[in-house]
Amino acid sequence: MYVCICNYVREREVRAVIRDGARTEEEVGDACGAGTGCGSCLDRICELIEDEEGPDTRMPFAA
Ligand code: FES
Repeated sequence: MYVCICNYVREREVRAVIRDGARTEEEVGDACGAGTGCGSCLDRICELIEDEEGPDTRMPFAA
């Protein structure tokens, strides 16, 4: 299934670049081109980033 129609980028390609280290929409765009056209797929790219990163296990800021 295509995530980005403008650049013909499939979901599996987006997931692969996230697994390779892309952590922002910009980094995903640089790696595979997704999200660099009309921008309508950026929400979906964000969802995929969150999905691939899994639950947020970062420590909260200490006061
Ligand atoms: S659908 Fe991805 S930039 Fe247009």
